[in-house]
Amino acid sequence: MSKRIAVCPGSFDPVTLGHRDIIQRASKLFDKVIVLVSVNAMKNPSFTAVERVKLIEKVTADLDNVVIDINDGLLADYVKKVGACAIIKGLRAVSDFEYEFQMALANKILYDGAETVFLTTSAENMYLSSSVVKQIASFGGDITHFVPECILEDIKARLWKEPEEIK
Ligand code: PNS
Repeated sequence: MSKRIAVCPGSFDPVTLGHRDIIQRASKLFDKVIVLVSVNAMKNPSFTAVERVKLIEKVTADLDNVVIDINDGLLADYVKKVGACAIIKGLRAVSDFEYEFQMALANKILYDGAETVFLTTSAENMYLSSSVVKQIASFGGDITHFVPECILEDIKARLWKEPEEIK
């Protein structure tokens, strides 16, 4: 039987505990999960695509059926190329829904061979996003509850500002 492959796309700038939770849960549902770092999604990312891949590698090192890749084209084309049957997205709140619904419909029109599967985020990650992490870190705040411990220092090294640097 052919392997059931899912693609979990995103900016992951940087990967958070919320992302890790969705990736882990997806890895239980599919034979293989490809975490796909999109290089076009943001104009000024804080981490390069290669840096984002390295951070995701660290936080998914224990998940045997998870691999990471970079894509600079359309998601639908990538999904078709790798023969994936699903696109995994995490939904935090109703506010996520309209945009995600729009993307799911567009991707279905572009490539009919895969379904978008929405996983509801865990309650403790409802408020969590990469932007929130970046904002807290840039004000020297505590991000230990938002990002996996193994990448805490990497994120601090890039984003952390000491109180005297904050104007
Ligand atoms: O983490 P994000 O920023 O919400 O992820 C958005 C992402 C990367 C999944 C989305 O922008 C995307 O799929 N970009 C790839 C380009 C593409 O296919 N765009 C059309 C989607 S309808």
